[in-house]
Amino acid sequence: MWTFLWMCDIHLDLLTPIERQDFLRRLKYFHLFGDADFFRADGILAGGDISTSARMADDLRAVHRDSNCMPVYYVPGNHDYYGGTIQAMRANQVRLHRGRRSHRIYALELSPGIRLGVHGEIGLVGHGCWGDTRAGDYWNSGLHGMSDFHEIWDFKNMNLTERKYLLMKLGDDAAEHLKKGCIALASSNCRHVVVLTHVPPFPDSSLYEGRVYARGLPYFSCQAAGKVLVEVARQFPQVRFTALSGHSHEESRLDVLPNLTALVRRAEYYEPSFDRIRISVEGVEITDTIGNKGSLQL
Ligand SMILES: [Fe+2]
Ligand SMILES: [Fe+2]
Repeated sequence: MWTFLWMCDIHLDLLTPIERQDFLRRLKYFHLFGDADFFRADGILAGGDISTSARMADDLRAVHRDSNCMPVYYVPGNHDYYGGTIQAMRANQVRLHRGRRSHRIYALELSPGIRLGVHGEIGLVGHGCWGDTRAGDYWNSGLHGMSDFHEIWDFKNMNLTERKYLLMKLGDDAAEHLKKGCIALASSNCRHVVVLTHVPPFPDSSLYEGRVYARGLPYFSCQAAGKVLVEVARQFPQVRFTALSGHSHEESRLDVLPNLTALVRRAEYYEPSFDRIRISVEGVEITDTIGNKGSLQL
């Protein structure tokens, strides 16, 4: 049994210094909150939209430092690219990942898959993924004006065809990474593979106001990733797979196959929170949500 703190869409760049400090203190003293009967965690799963390009490395270091130096396993979200390029984010990840043995911040996009513990029954693989334009009706999407396409420099001045081509390519790269990682873990002793993404892999679990929003789906689901997860889960029916995602900011749970479940975490701008979750070979259980409302008096 492993205990993690799962966060995504915390958008630390939107907070005042006091709000940011409040959030970090809750990480430090997370064990004082909630009803759980345990007082430690084995690490943090940070599922993207942590902040922006220029700040992400510093914000991840702060999350690591203020969580009593727990290992942080992260994937970037679309907002983490804001103010920079895809290549710059890659370089950022490489720099952080190089020092992982000392500061224990792991870029899952650069990792072939991590087996936890001595026996390695739980595996961890991840990629931020992208809304790869394959789900829903891309050409009539209501979200072509999303700020991603002004704030991420690669997309500036692209027409819709060029944008679609790039997003499909990014989705395919993400899917390939997840496929390799899942197969490597499932082929070894792993009995449960946890897949951390930012963009949900399955359209049916990417909700807007409680329902699947067809006009937003092209940018809110990475169908290439979903396809490979189904393939791998069918190939390894004895292994459990759980996808943990964010991006839509709406909570959902989808049982895709008997051994494949997709969870999307709820999030609110300006009110960052995190879940305490237990991961076992049977699945993932969310035990507490620790919010950022009010000030922490200690
Ligand atoms: Fe977000
Ligand atoms: Fe996002």
